Amino acid sequence: MHDFKYKNGELYCEDVKVRDAAAKAGTPFYLYSHHTLVDHFTKIKTAFAPVSPLICFAMKSNDNLAVLKTLKDLGAGFDIVSGGELKKALRTGVDAGKIVFASVGKTEEEIVDAIRSGILLFNVESLPELEEINRLAGALNTRPRVALRINPDVEALTHVKITTGTLKNKFGIDLKTARKILRAANRYPHVSLSGLHIHIGSQITTRAPFIRALTKVIAFLDVLKKDGVRLEYLDIGGGMGIIYKDEKPQTAQDFAAAVLSRLRKTGLKIIMEPGRFIAGNAGILVARVLYLKDNSFKKFLIVDAGMNDLIRPALYDAYHEIVPVVETKARKTKMDIVGPICESGDFFAKDRQFPILKNGDLVAIMSAGAYGYVMASNYNMRGRPPEVMVKGNCFEITKDRETFEDLIRGETIPAFLQ
Ligand code: LLP
Repeated sequence: MHDFKYKNGELYCEDVKVRDAAAKAGTPFYLYSHHTLVDHFTKIKTAFAPVSPLICFAMKSNDNLAVLKTLKDLGAGFDIVSGGELKKALRTGVDAGKIVFASVGKTEEEIVDAIRSGILLFNVESLPELEEINRLAGALNTRPRVALRINPDVEALTHVKITTGTLKNKFGIDLKTARKILRAANRYPHVSLSGLHIHIGSQITTRAPFIRALTKVIAFLDVLKKDGVRLEYLDIGGGMGIIYKDEKPQTAQDFAAAVLSRLRKTGLKIIMEPGRFIAGNAGILVARVLYLKDNSFKKFLIVDAGMNDLIRPALYDAYHEIVPVVETKARKTKMDIVGPICESGDFFAKDRQFPILKNGDLVAIMSAGAYGYVMASNYNMRGRPPEVMVKGNCFEITKDRETFEDLIRGETIPAFLQ
């Protein structure tokens, strides 16, 4: 599942002691395993080999350049959601023809940049957006490919904040509107209406919602076929869940076994957009213990990482396993593991049985490789932490810790206040 393991009582990432990486990077910091990324990517690639999908890594989950380059070198494309992600993806040298672009609010500048770059597909989320892409493509004298992101109105059975596939959500186009658009394709002469896209949510651990959504899409494809609509691509999105605690998510192999024959029957080129499945368990957040505080009602282990570094527990009540970097026989007791930020939501664990560590000890917050660093902020004027990648027995800081100068750049006191 991942390459963070104890050897002789010490947590390693592949063949590197987490403690050694901490000595170089300082704490807190994110640590990624190259091998785990490769392993997870390969699991999907192998399981879905019969339909040779284009696997577009959802770079919103982790956009570290070393992570992206690792996946690009394995043949991945990228699922992007902004002009910034487009530019960063291109930095890896990826072929723009392997980039798909979703987002409910693409701006004119983002659309033009993506058209000029020659991306594979715009995953279009509304009729006005389609009209805008058509208009801009006309002005540029090009004809980009477009897939309609359809909203299959299916519950993903996951956290409410990461459910995207019901009509209560802002994402995608309802089937009736999508059919109307595709039947009147000649109204949009500057785009090639080439496919359908779905993405129903994230951290989905059972296969039922995927099957329900796919069944709807396939029935819809049949309707379209009768309408005389010809398509080339089917993008089935991301969303495969991972193990944070005791989940038993479907494996890539299980998922493939359940959907391959249906996918093959469509005759379409298949695109997938996994994020968390590839990056989630390939990264940890390492923090140092500052204090153990006992207010006679409760114990709090205060560490030097905060909700600004990893917001998932605060935002989604997400569970992350936490382990000491050096194994200890210290007595375990119930405590909250918290950061230094001035909010009660600044916690990593509540009422967790955890050993009584000392000031200076290191802890690893597991499964932080997806939606970790990318959601970090500068709240409380804290620089975002460095990111480190391990490959075998080598490691390198791939992104520096933000300094005070980085944080204050571009900020001035107005003349009228001087
Ligand atoms: N494709 C689209 C269009 C998406 O919106 C997403 C994620 C993905 C693919 C990748 O989904 P994944 O395979 O990673 O589940 N911040 C939240 C997760 C937000 C997911 C947003 N969309 C969290 O920390 O749980």
